[in-house]
Amino acid sequence: MAGFSDALSPRVDRLIELTDVSKEYSSGANTVRALRPSSLTLDRGEFVLLEGPSGSGKTTLLQVMGLLMKPTSGSIKICGEDVTVMGEDKLPGLRLKHIGFIFQTFNLFPALTAFENVKLVLKLKGFGWTERGKEAKTLLDRVGLGSCMHRKPGELSGGQRQRICIARALAGDNDIILADEPTAALDTATGISIIELLRNEARTGRKAVLVVTHDPRLEKYATRVDKMTDGILTGGEPIRPRPMHSIDDTGVLFPHHQSQVAEVAGAAY
Ligand SMILES: Nc1ncnc2c1ncn2[C@@H]1O[C@H](COP(=O)(O)OP(=O)(O)OP(=O)(O)O)[C@@H](O)[C@H]1O
Ligand SMILES: [Mg+2]
Repeated sequence: MAGFSDALSPRVDRLIELTDVSKEYSSGANTVRALRPSSLTLDRGEFVLLEGPSGSGKTTLLQVMGLLMKPTSGSIKICGEDVTVMGEDKLPGLRLKHIGFIFQTFNLFPALTAFENVKLVLKLKGFGWTERGKEAKTLLDRVGLGSCMHRKPGELSGGQRQRICIARALAGDNDIILADEPTAALDTATGISIIELLRNEARTGRKAVLVVTHDPRLEKYATRVDKMTDGILTGGEPIRPRPMHSIDDTGVLFPHHQSQVAEVAGAAY
């Protein structure tokens, strides 16, 4: 993936930076201004909620951030690289490397089992046969689907399908996780366990998670709550500091940050 940051590049803490990004949908004479010029940043360690009424533009914003849709205007940087000036052919690779996306509409392959759906992403990310089987099983166990991982999406409930999407988004250790209403199809207890799982991904200090939700009860987990109204994004103030500690790729805590860990561990987040 030439041109992308690699293992030798310095670590970038600002994972996403949107500047004056807008999106209009046009069909014939009709134009829907789904996203008015909006700016947003997402840093490692942040667990951000995006709230807003139905039709306010949350999915549109997420799809633009997730490089699934081109914005009408504005600039998008992923890990410091301006993707709006990149060739379109580079975007799938960049998305695969950095972004795990949990879709509001699941987007699973119906002919593949839960296990195969997760393994497919790992294959695209370059995992070998044995390691992708092992990793897919671990991920499906983490979301509570180990016992039915050989079933196809059509043989599972909406909540179980949602959990396959979550396992798939976690596959391959993406540093950015964008989740579009990940708890909408889940009962309260399962929803909270999934939110805690996503929050814990951010708490490592290595990842950033943005979750679209209609559920204000989730605010207690957030480091920031942004709001969307009629396509206008209003960024929230930080509610609590994002973790100052970081864990490197080998799982080692950066020594110069250790004194701050106790402080973070004591916080409600
Ligand atoms: N592909 C599209 N073509 C035309 N208009 C669209 C398209 N997708 C979304 N819209 C419109 O853009 C606006 C924002 O839609 P969007 O799906 O982003 O809202 P949302 O906040 O995610 O809503 P919900 O909470 O119901 O999921 C709405 O008016 C919607 O009808
Ligand atoms: Mg939506």
